[in-house]
Amino acid sequence: MRVLLLGGGGREHALALGLVADPAVEALIAAPGNPGIADVAELRQTDLTDPAAVAALAVEAAADLVVIGPEAPLVAGVADAVRAKGIPVFGPSAEAARLEGSKAFAKDVMTAAGVPTARAYTCADPGSVAKALDEFGPPYVVKNDGLAAGKGVVVTDDRATAERHARDCGRVVIEEYLAGPEVSLFVVTDGEAAVPLLPAQDFKRVGDGDSGPNTGGMGAYAPLPWAPPGLVDEVMRDVVHPTLAEMRRRGTPFAGLLYVGLAITAGGPRVIEFNARFGDPETQVVLALLETPLAGLLHAAATGTLAAHPPLRWREGAAVTVVVAAENYPAAPRTGDVITGADRPGVIHAGTVRRAADGALLSAGGRVLCGTATGPTLAAARDAAYALVDGIGLAGSHHRTDIAAGAVDGRITVPTS
Ligand code: AMP
Ligand code: GLY
Repeated sequence: MRVLLLGGGGREHALALGLVADPAVEALIAAPGNPGIADVAELRQTDLTDPAAVAALAVEAAADLVVIGPEAPLVAGVADAVRAKGIPVFGPSAEAARLEGSKAFAKDVMTAAGVPTARAYTCADPGSVAKALDEFGPPYVVKNDGLAAGKGVVVTDDRATAERHARDCGRVVIEEYLAGPEVSLFVVTDGEAAVPLLPAQDFKRVGDGDSGPNTGGMGAYAPLPWAPPGLVDEVMRDVVHPTLAEMRRRGTPFAGLLYVGLAITAGGPRVIEFNARFGDPETQVVLALLETPLAGLLHAAATGTLAAHPPLRWREGAAVTVVVAAENYPAAPRTGDVITGADRPGVIHAGTVRRAADGALLSAGGRVLCGTATGPTLAAARDAAYALVDGIGLAGSHHRTDIAAGAVDGRITVPTS
């Protein structure tokens, strides 16, 4: 199988490693890729949000499968254009990707499907914003209605900050605050059959102890030792299957990766958000534990044959990833600094480039690298991931020191009513 992978972040580096480990994959082509992906794939350049250009690349590359990493190409209709060429693609249509592209659309689908989620109002003027904030009270949750790469959400006790974010965004979804630990559950689906991957936990805030602003994600671990038994079955029954059925009913079936972001509240799991793609950095830990060949699984989802796919196999133990971020991330990350110590297995590239002159590795984005490791226990995986991070040299960089610490120490609990 020849596979074309779109994207160039940490998630795509993890996907690339998974794809080339599948014996069925004879060639991996990646656009644009990154210096880590370059070790296992042939890199190409194209405009990822230009459906015709990507479809042409898929044809030229003689791809048997196209895997779309980031959300922007999905929302732009890249999957539709590739599918129109008769090439199987792992990623939903533009219509179905609205589950991620519009928070208001996602709420509408959840309401129609009876999916448990926070009560919410879509607001576009200061009067309705004030009314919604009054009704729910602090902490206030204000979400940009458009695509914001996981960074359009403000959760704050400060009324003025909440009102300012609403004004800056124009159209927002304001919702009830959900108290409880968060879970990212990835579900591979062909629109009808659906296969859950291991649940993972992401760390969204930039600082230790969940302090500071939201980011794209500062680290992750899987599986979740504290998760209530039956959690995944419950989410498949109450969230995933009703959502997929509602998307089919609307004539826009969702096929690809349904990312269910949940809060485990006293009342049970509640959906915080849907995404239409793998999460970053949760993918790094989930795929590190997947033993089933990845390309075969994604190809089955892309060709409507997932029901016939054998059950997934997982490695024993746990995986942890820790993001090394550039100075000043998430505000205005500094780039162009030399990175050392990245040449070790388990170092996943996100925002890196090679300097043409001498091949030196430079920082080129906010989230620069991740140290990803597995181990027989969560504690062992955590130590190994931090050992990788401690070996990275990058001026001004920062990382959280508490990724997976609460889970290792048994400090994560689901609230009881
Ligand atoms: P989202 O982009 O919708 O995932 O939101 C980003 C982050 O904001 C989530 O991972 C949560 O940490 C937080 N968040 C979003 N919605 C809520 C909510 N209703 N209650 C509590 N926290 C939330
Ligand atoms: N890690 C969160 C996301 O990918 O949106």
